[in-house]
This record gives sequence, structure tokens and C-alpha cells, in this order.
Amino acid sequence: MLETQELSKSYASIPAVRNVNFSLQAGQVLGCLGPNGSGKSTTVKMLTGLLQPTRGKVLFYGEDIHKDLVGFRRCLGYVPEEANLYPYLSGREYLEMIGILRGIGRPRLEKRIDSLLELFAMHPHRHGVIASYSKGMRQRILLIAAFMDNPPILIFDEPLSGLDVTTALILKTLIRTFGQRGKAIFYCSHVLEVVEQVCSDLLILRKGNVIASGPTEAIQRHADSASLERTFMHMVEKADTDQVSADIIHAMEA
Ligand SMILES: Nc1ncnc2c1ncn2[C@@H]1O[C@H](COP(=O)(O)OP(=O)(O)OP(=O)(O)O)[C@@H](O)[C@H]1O
Ligand SMILES: [Mg+2]
Repeated sequence: MLETQELSKSYASIPAVRNVNFSLQAGQVLGCLGPNGSGKSTTVKMLTGLLQPTRGKVLFYGEDIHKDLVGFRRCLGYVPEEANLYPYLSGREYLEMIGILRGIGRPRLEKRIDSLLELFAMHPHRHGVIASYSKGMRQRILLIAAFMDNPPILIFDEPLSGLDVTTALILKTLIRTFGQRGKAIFYCSHVLEVVEQVCSDLLILRKGNVIASGPTEAIQRHADSASLERTFMHMVEKADTDQVSADIIHAMEA
């Protein structure tokens, strides 16, 4: 469904993503992992067409997404890392705007917005301005905006950020179900426990390079680890976290 070929991006000649190749099929939940600054969000922004790659391309059913970006985006739901919402619109107004831009017809749009607001426990806050929302409330609006048109591809960049336990659990179940129902999901996160539970496949980045990719179980087996956290520490960070914590305390007390 979605495929990258040698996808690369440099910011002012500093490479952020280098030669990333993967494909995403219907029914696949691909988890993208990597330390801070490893290129996850840059990859996501190229996947959604927000950033032009410096080199390489993103293909949607074999065609470069930039050939028909509007058509591609119709098939896409995107939950960005940061909630850049219009602060003076109410949550409901924002969702209406997104629905209209996506071309969802009126009666269906109203019905869908109201039921999703209700299910994400945002109905009582629907007329409040976004500026007054808590972080988690903004995140819920972003999720509703991404789900509203029932797109076949969903791209999440750290979607659990700010969500409470119940909503995070709901989202986890939803992502698994989306996969089972044939949607293609690209899921960036630092929460390894969740990635382990929901992602069928992994793409692990380090300094903009893919250092491992393949089925989650195979990567774990290869690293000979029981948990993804240990696999990740083994493959990516190579840091002695106990030692670093002790050094931080030492520096604070020196
Ligand atoms: N707009 C930008 N201008 C210049 N450099 C950028 C820009 N955006 C990202 N970078 C650089 O590109 C690299 C990758 O950043 P990116 O945001 O993709 O990382 P990430 O894996 O999403 O990190 P995090 O886990 O912190 O979200 C970093 O070195 C970052 O400094
Ligand atoms: Mg990021």
C-alpha cells in the first residue's frame, strides 16, 4: 500500500534520515522506534507529504505521493507529535472544519462528530475553545480528527502523549483492531510496552539509519531478549542507565 525507497532528508546539509526503505501493507501495524532525534518524526512528515524528501520517495500503490497529494491524503489519518490546533475554535468547530475539508457530507459529518466526541468523553467540552483544553483533551481531538473519515492508512507520531490510562488502553485496542480490519498503520512511539503489544513489525532507527527491521518476534529472537525494552537497549542505546542515573545524582550533589 505504502512504500519508501531510499527515503532521505537533510536539514541544511545535516542528514536526519538516511536511505529508509520499508513497505507497509494493509493489515500491518508497523512500529517505528528510535531514541530522541533519530529521525522518526522526519520520516513521518515525509510519509504524510508535509516534507519533501532530499532524496528518495514515498509511493502509494506504486505512485509517488506528490503526484496526487490531495488524493493520497484523503486515504490518510495523521496524528502528529504536536497538537497544532486552532486555539480560538471550539473542539467541535475544529472537527467540523476538518470534516468539511475532507468532503464528508453534512448529516453524516454531524452524526460522526457527535458520536466520536461522546466516545472520547469530549462531548461536555465540545463548545469550549481549544486554548482552554488540557493536553490530553487536545490529543483526543487530534485522534477524532484522524479517525473521523475512517481512512485506510493511519500514521501516529507518539499518540499516547498526554492521554490518561483509560484512553491509552482504548487507543491500544483500537490500533490492534484497525490492523485486524485491514488498515495500514505506522506507529512511532517511545512506549516500548505498547509497541510490543500492538505492532506486528518494527523499524528501528538510530541517527537516521535503519538498524533493524522485520517482524517484532523475529527482531526479539535475533537479539535473544525476552522483552522489547531489553532488545532496544541492547541494539540501540548501549547505555548503562544505572550508571548514568548515578552520575546525574553525583553531578547534582557536587
Ligand atoms: N525543522 C528542523 N530543522 C533542522 N533540524 C531538524 C528539524 N527537525 C528535525 N531536525 C533534526 O533532525 C533530526 C531528527 O529529528 P526528528 O524530529 O525526526 O527525531 P525523532 O526521532 O522524532 O525524535 P523524538 O523522539 O525526540 O521525537 C534531529 O537531529 C533534529 O535536530
Ligand atoms: Mg519525534
